[in-house]
Amino acid sequence: MRAYRAKMVESIRLPDREEREAALDAAGHNVFNLDSDAVYVDLLTDSGTGTMSDAQWAAMMQGDEAYAGSGSFTDLEAAASDVLGFDRIVPAHQGRGAENVLYGSLVEPGDVVPNNTHFDTTRAHVVEQGGEPVDCPVEGALDPGASGDFLGNFDVERARAVVDEVGADRVPAVVVTLTNNSAAGQPVSVANVRAVREFCDEIGATFVLDACRFAENAHFVREREPEFADSTVAAVAREQLSYADACIVSAKKDGLANVGGFVGIRDAPAFDDLFERAKQRAILYEGFTTYGGMAGRDLAAVAVGLREAVTDAYITDRVEQVRWLGERLDEAGVPVVRPVGGHAVYVDAGAMCPHLRSEEFPGQAVVCDLYREGGVRGVELGEFAFPGADRPDLVRLAIPRRTYARDHLEHVVETAAAVADHADDLPGYEVVSEPPMAELRHFSADLRPLAPSPGSEE
Ligand code: F0G
Repeated sequence: MRAYRAKMVESIRLPDREEREAALDAAGHNVFNLDSDAVYVDLLTDSGTGTMSDAQWAAMMQGDEAYAGSGSFTDLEAAASDVLGFDRIVPAHQGRGAENVLYGSLVEPGDVVPNNTHFDTTRAHVVEQGGEPVDCPVEGALDPGASGDFLGNFDVERARAVVDEVGADRVPAVVVTLTNNSAAGQPVSVANVRAVREFCDEIGATFVLDACRFAENAHFVREREPEFADSTVAAVAREQLSYADACIVSAKKDGLANVGGFVGIRDAPAFDDLFERAKQRAILYEGFTTYGGMAGRDLAAVAVGLREAVTDAYITDRVEQVRWLGERLDEAGVPVVRPVGGHAVYVDAGAMCPHLRSEEFPGQAVVCDLYREGGVRGVELGEFAFPGADRPDLVRLAIPRRTYARDHLEHVVETAAAVADHADDLPGYEVVSEPPMAELRHFSADLRPLAPSPGSEE
C-alpha cells in the first residue's frame, strides 16, 4: 500500500517517434548522451534520481552551512549512529568519493581485495590504489536462469582459495556489496555477513560493507531469512551492519537524497588509525570533515532520508513496486532475471535476441529500441559496458525512489512488450568511437546499428 502522495509535480513528455529517432541518432545510439527532456520514463539509474519527502525539504531549509562544526553534520552523525550503528563517519560528496577516501586509506599496491561483485567505481578505486579486485559471487549469481533467495551472497570458499594463493598479508580488506548491484541487485543474507566476519577475523582483514542499498537488502532478509521474520527492517539493517568494521554509503540510494555519501568506521581503538587517515584523505579530496563536499542542506536531507529508508511504510512499497514491474514484464513475455532485485529489474537481452552475438551488443539493441518505442531509458550491462568480461547481456531498468506511478510503469511494460515482439528483427550495434579507458566506454562511446531498425524511417 502506497503510504505517500505527491505534493509537487514535474512535467515530462513523450516526444513523438520521429523526434525520438532523431534524438537517438544525435546521441550516437548511446542513451547516456540523450537530453533528459527527451526521455519519458527515465530508468537509467536509481542513484540520486528519487523524490525527497516534505520532511527532507523542510530540513534542507534549516541546513547549517558552516564550514566547520555544522549542526547538520551532527544530525547526520546521529542518523548514521541510530540507523546504521556507525558512530564515526567521514562525509563525502557521493559514494565514489567515500570509496576514494576509504580504499585510498586501506589498499596498497600489490594488495588483493575480494568482493561479492565489485561495482564499477569500487573496482576502479581498488585498481587506482594499485590493488587487484577479485569477484567472489556465489554460484549462479551471474546466471539469469538461476534462482535463489540470496544470490547476492559472498562465496567465502572462493575467497579463501584466493587468500591461500596470495597470502593473508596481501588482503587488507574484504568487501560485501548490499545488495549486489552488479549481480542483478540480489540480496545478501545476515548469515552470509556473519560468515564473512569470521573469515575476516581469521585472515586479519578489515570487513567493509558497501551499504548503498542497506534498507532494500534488509527488507529481503526479513522476507527470506526465517530468523528475522518478526523483526523490523530497521532492526535487521542494524544487525547486518553490526558485523562490519567499516561501510561505504552513497546517500543517492537508500539515503533518499539527490547527492551525498560517507564512510562509516567502527568506533574502536583498533580503527583509530584508519579513521585518522580517512579524515586526512577526505580533507584533501572531499572537503573538511564536517561537510565532505556536501552543502549543509544536503547533510540535512541525508540525515532525514536515512531514517525514512528503514520505515516499513517506505521500504515495503519500494521493493513491492520494483517487484510489480518485474512480474508484469515477465507476464508480458519479456525475459527478466528472477527473483527480482531491490532497485531494478534486469532484462535478459541475450535471451531476447538470440540472433545477435554478444559482440553485436544485444543489450544495447534492446536499450535503443526501448527508447525508440516508448521514450524509456534503461542501461546496458553486458558486453558493451563490461568488454570481454563474459557476463550475461542484461539491460537494467532501475526505478527511482518514490517517483513514478503505476501508469508510468504500465507504459514501460507496454513498451518492453512491443520490443520483445519484434526482438528477432533488432539490429546489432558496433562502436564507432570510444574513450581510451575500456571500463568507461559505455558512458561516452558512439555506436551505429548494423542494419535499419524495425519500423524506422531508414
Ligand atoms: N557502490 C554501489 C554498489 C553503487 O551502486 C554505486 C553507484 C556506488 C558504489 C557509487 O556511488 O554513484 O554515489 O558515487 N551506483 C549508481 C548506479 C551509479 O547507477 O548503480 P555514487
